[in-house]
Amino acid sequence: MARILITSAIPYINGIKHLGNLVGSQLPADLYARYMRQRGHEVMFLCATDEHGTPAELAAAKAGKPVDEFCAEMHAVQAEIAAGFRLSFDKFGRSSSPQNHRLTQHFAAMLDKAGLIEEVSEKQVYSNTDGRFLPDRYIEGTCPNCGYDKARGDQCENCTKQLDPTDLIEPRSAISGSTDLEVRETKHLYLRQSQMRPRLTEWIDSKTDWPILTTSIAKKWLNDGEGLQDRGITRDLDWGVPVQRGDAPWPGMEGKVFYVWFDAPIEYIACAAEWAEEHALDDAAWERWWRTDRGADDVRYVQFMGKDNVPFHTLSFPTTIMGANSIDGQDWKLVDYIKAFNYLNYEGGQFSTSQGRGIFMDQALSILPADYWRWWLLSHAPETSDTEFTWENFQASINKDLADVLGNFVSRVTKFCRSKFSEAVPAGGTYTEVEHQLIADLTTRIRAYEGFMEAIEVRKAAAELRIIWTLGNEYLQSTAPWTVFKTDPDRAACIIRLSLNLIRIYAILSRPFIPDASAELLSAMHSDDDTWPDDVTAALQHLPVGHGFTVPEVTFAKITDEQRVEWQTRFAGIRN
Ligand code: MF3
Ligand code: ZN
Repeated sequence: MARILITSAIPYINGIKHLGNLVGSQLPADLYARYMRQRGHEVMFLCATDEHGTPAELAAAKAGKPVDEFCAEMHAVQAEIAAGFRLSFDKFGRSSSPQNHRLTQHFAAMLDKAGLIEEVSEKQVYSNTDGRFLPDRYIEGTCPNCGYDKARGDQCENCTKQLDPTDLIEPRSAISGSTDLEVRETKHLYLRQSQMRPRLTEWIDSKTDWPILTTSIAKKWLNDGEGLQDRGITRDLDWGVPVQRGDAPWPGMEGKVFYVWFDAPIEYIACAAEWAEEHALDDAAWERWWRTDRGADDVRYVQFMGKDNVPFHTLSFPTTIMGANSIDGQDWKLVDYIKAFNYLNYEGGQFSTSQGRGIFMDQALSILPADYWRWWLLSHAPETSDTEFTWENFQASINKDLADVLGNFVSRVTKFCRSKFSEAVPAGGTYTEVEHQLIADLTTRIRAYEGFMEAIEVRKAAAELRIIWTLGNEYLQSTAPWTVFKTDPDRAACIIRLSLNLIRIYAILSRPFIPDASAELLSAMHSDDDTWPDDVTAALQHLPVGHGFTVPEVTFAKITDEQRVEWQTRFAGIRN
């Protein structure tokens, strides 16, 4: 039994995520966590909401709510949707937790002690009316390039030109509209990532088993001068983790908070501490996952994320960990494997949160069960390249894989048995060559499936599972129990007995992908034994003669053309 720590990139708090976000981190992480638990490993699966930074403040302002209230509400909303998708987090934490405040301040102190933090004086726009420094995007004015009068200090939305706040004509505060602005000196902390280049390079080079997508992005950033520049890790905002050296104040840093990208990955650690608190456990309980000097040396730590997150996880966060670890008594766990994803596109364009384009997680659940989405998304996961969601493809895949292949097998077997024998596993007959061949094929395919799941080859695992389902249909097709029954009912009984047992095996194998349907199938087989089919022959005899079952209701209803057209239209526009 191994111990596996799994984190998914933590979603921003500012709104409900779309299906592209889901398939890029949380969903494949859940697949892996479920599989590893099922195989008997000890798993800690963590995710949280990413609650700090300007986007959180802006979203709260737009909702007309104080930011802490907005975050608390939105966290509850995201948690409920995650539960709807059956994401099996051990803890869904919050980056605004006291645990993360403490740990972020602790790491800053360690990095400072390690000489990796530098204080830098900068000039920044201060609003006298608002009594605060304004981040670039909080300053509005007229674009010098196109004349658009609502250009932001970082970029003009109209002509897309990148701007500096000082470029704007008639600049004003986006908060109050005040034009009483001035440029003031302010001090910020910089993380000296560039110092880490040799160690990061050596570390990345040692990761020869990582997906190319991950290492290629990491190496590009390492080798290109921009990538590893020292980075400001503090901001002049109210909402965030106050800048302190551990418990102690940081002179000159009063009123400032850490940059959201500094505290967000530390939440991976803090989330385990939140988990311990929730279960009334002591620090040792979470430290055994995160401190190599306190039991985490045998933990395998796997991260899941979209490709845009890779630089932060291969360079910035490792700098935090390695930097802290250079201080005596600090032994934090570094990631062992990073699984990154490309993008999922939507009907010829991009999913977009800011533009409200695509299907959002709450909308998806309002029209179809989680399993439909889980199956389609995972079996089309954007691993080696970007992939595209189209309603045609979605309808075709669901109807074929879930309804025609898996659902149909279950329904044919159980209904035939009920009508010709009873609602119990029938007696009679013995295996022939066909059964021996089927067992050999199943064994080969199940071993391959296990291999892909271990390797987190999501699409290949899905393809293998689909083949395993197909083997059942082919078996029925070639043995034709409905015909055989007329002349040799014992032989038909043997075929059906095997097939009923195969339904149970399907329930077990499919559970990481489609947990609800799997649970239904298992209970339809009146079984709660979900032991993995290491030995296929034995597993096919698990339900003995006379064991009762229930013919399941339609396990997977097909998606009709009318539904598809209706949804295509409904989700063609922009969510407001
Ligand atoms: N909120 C970020 C995003 O959605 C991900 C943060 S991951 C973490 O892109 F490492 F910072 F936690
Ligand atoms: Zn412009």
